[in-house]
Amino acid sequence: MPDSAPLLALREIGHSFGGLSVLRSVTFDVPEGGIVGLIGPNGSGKTTLFNIISGYIHPLAGTIAYRGRSLARESIQKRGLTGLVRTFQTPQVFEKMTVLENIMVGCAKLTRTTMLQDLLRTPAARGQMREIYRRAEAACERFQLGGLRDLPAASLTAGQRRILEIARAVVGEPKLLLLDEPSSGLNAQEIDNLREWIVRLNEQGITVLLVSHDMGLMTVARTVHTLYFGEIIASGDMAAIQRDPKVREVYLGV
Ligand SMILES: Nc1ncnc2c1ncn2[C@@H]1O[C@H](COP(=O)(O)OP(=O)(O)O)[C@@H](O)[C@H]1O
Ligand SMILES: [Mg+2]
Repeated sequence: MPDSAPLLALREIGHSFGGLSVLRSVTFDVPEGGIVGLIGPNGSGKTTLFNIISGYIHPLAGTIAYRGRSLARESIQKRGLTGLVRTFQTPQVFEKMTVLENIMVGCAKLTRTTMLQDLLRTPAARGQMREIYRRAEAACERFQLGGLRDLPAASLTAGQRRILEIARAVVGEPKLLLLDEPSSGLNAQEIDNLREWIVRLNEQGITVLLVSHDMGLMTVARTVHTLYFGEIIASGDMAAIQRDPKVREVYLGV
């Protein structure tokens, strides 16, 4: 892949549900190492676009290239293995598993041994389990979940679940992290922390595509695209977006 190719390239993405168009000709790039934001009123198609990028939905039109290659034939799992990882608007955690176990699931792609080796409990497999445990423990501490590590995820508050989901998403060191409204359910202090984590993860080389209603959090993005009923109506940094007359009219309501 040439240096100049974007990590993710969306071209003319279109989709509809039951004949109702929800995305029209959505085109933008996510440059490697960047933080790109996506805003728009409820129902404007942000989550649908995330579902398309992560492979839950096949778009009716358009193309997606990731690291210079088409994703059209790649499964959700394959996309995850190549470092394309997402979180959900409603956090998805394994209720009966502990916080630490939930985070260990996010390390699964780091395993190199085969299933047979796991069954035979080879030294390589045991070494890997130790490494996964160590990484999950470190992620627990980093995301301030250490005191909760042995509790079942079912016992967490909405804010803690959100943070657990983010910890699980990043522990496997994704290349491209898609965050769908990660600040919802978080208090002001947690949103501040989230902002710092995003900056730090990005500095460590993780590219981020972020959906959020929180304008303060959104200033973390260098480029923000505004979706309005399935179409991009404005793009730029947050200051430019907030000045944009179309955005002010349809989104900010002024
Ligand atoms: N699985 C689905 N079936 C039918 N309609 C859907 C489905 N998912 C989303 N929609 C509709 O598509 C539009 C865009 O929704 P969504 O992508 O969730 O928007 P956003 O995340 O920006 O709030 C909405 O009108 C929503 O009702
Ligand atoms: Mg949504």
